[in-house]
Parts: sequence; structure tokens; C-alpha cells
Amino acid sequence: MANSQAIQTTDNSYKDYWFWQRDSSPDLIARYPNLDLKGKDVLDIGCGIGGRTCYLGGQGARHVVGCDINSREIETTENLKRELAPELKDKVVFSCNQTEQIGLGKIKFDLVLIIDAMEYIKEPSLMPEQAYRLLKPGGKLNFGAVGWGHWHATHMLRIFPVSFMRLFFSDKTILNTARRMMKQEFYKSRTWDSNPPCLR
Ligand SMILES: C[S@@+](CC[C@H](N)C(=O)[O-])C[C@H]1O[C@@H](n2cnc3c(N)ncnc32)[C@H](O)[C@@H]1O
Repeated sequence: MANSQAIQTTDNSYKDYWFWQRDSSPDLIARYPNLDLKGKDVLDIGCGIGGRTCYLGGQGARHVVGCDINSREIETTENLKRELAPELKDKVVFSCNQTEQIGLGKIKFDLVLIIDAMEYIKEPSLMPEQAYRLLKPGGKLNFGAVGWGHWHATHMLRIFPVSFMRLFFSDKTILNTARRMMKQEFYKSRTWDSNPPCLR
């Protein structure tokens, strides 16, 4: 599908990110207790450009759907999958949810994963209920995130590059500084911080 909005897969930074997602997955997935993918229908909510979704597809799952609210990234996932994981052509598919509501019709899953995405979702408290509705009876939801409350607050490092910042500054100071930094000309946001509709 020709789409001028899709991120070009010739952009190596996207390929690098895809490979990072895929190659960091074994360690990350090992932290999810008793995650059994074999023969399962899996939904990966907030999949971004889909490197992790493709990793899941290669681990014995029956089908994996990756969904994300960011349409530009979802268009790019298909290009990247075709180029970097063609063997997953029919096993892994991607879908854009456009709004905070994930609309996948009547499809239900054995396993719903939300990996490093909860902290990006505008209404995180509504997501577990949505995920629950997408589960088959007896299905499981697993989610994990680097929280704001973590002492390192890694997600702020790009904006406010002070390690262990939460030990030295109050939340109010960090947030006010971040707001000021993001308005500066030199500030370059990362794709998941800037692409609408990621309004966090
Ligand atoms: C840091 S990325 C995580 C990507 C991938 N799960 C990983 O572990 O590398 C967070 C993703 O959550 C997505 N996101 C934010 N709100 C969402 C929502 N309501 N529904 C689906 N995806 C959402 C963003 O667009 C972004 O791609």
C-alpha cells in the first residue's frame, strides 16, 4: 500500500529500533511470570513499530496481532515485517486502533500483553478493562512498564539528562523543567513522544 505518511524502512534508525525491540525481548519477556506463548492467540497492545510483536510471533504463538494508536508506526510495521521477518507474513498482523478504544470486532485472545506502553496511554486506568473484554475465557493479561515512580525515571532522561534525578529534585521541579526543555529549539523528541495522537 502506497502511503506517503508511512515511515520509510530505508531509515536505519527505524530498523535499528526494530532490531532493538526484537533482540531485547528474550530478557524482557522472561520477567513476565509463566508466559506461555505456544499455540496462543496473542494481542500486543502499544506495539510501536512491531519488532517485539514479531519476536512473539517467532516463539510458537498461533497468531499475534500488534495494535497501536499511532497510525504512522502501524503503516511502518508492515514494511518492516515484510523486509525483516518475511517468514511471519501470515502469523503476525498489525492494526491501528485510531482512538483509545481498541476495535478488533469479535476477535478474542488467549493472551493480551501491554509492554512498556501503559505509561504512554492517555487513560491507563481504562486499558485493563478493555483488555479483559478482548480475552477468551481463562485468558491472561500481562503488563509491565517503567513507571514514573522508578528512582531512575528513565523515560525522562532524554528531556532532563540527570541520572538519579528523583533523588535530588521534587516531581514539581522535574515536570516544570521538562515542560520548559520541550519548548526549546534544540529539543528533539523521540517518535513515540511526538507523533499525534500520543498526547502524553
Ligand atoms: C514505548 S512504545 C512501546 C513499544 C513496544 N511495546 C515496546 O515494548 O518496545 C509505547 C507505545 O504505546 C503506544 N500507545 C499509546 N497509547 C496507546 C493506546 N491508547 N492504544 C494503543 N497504543 C498506544 C504508543 O503509540 C507507542 O507506540
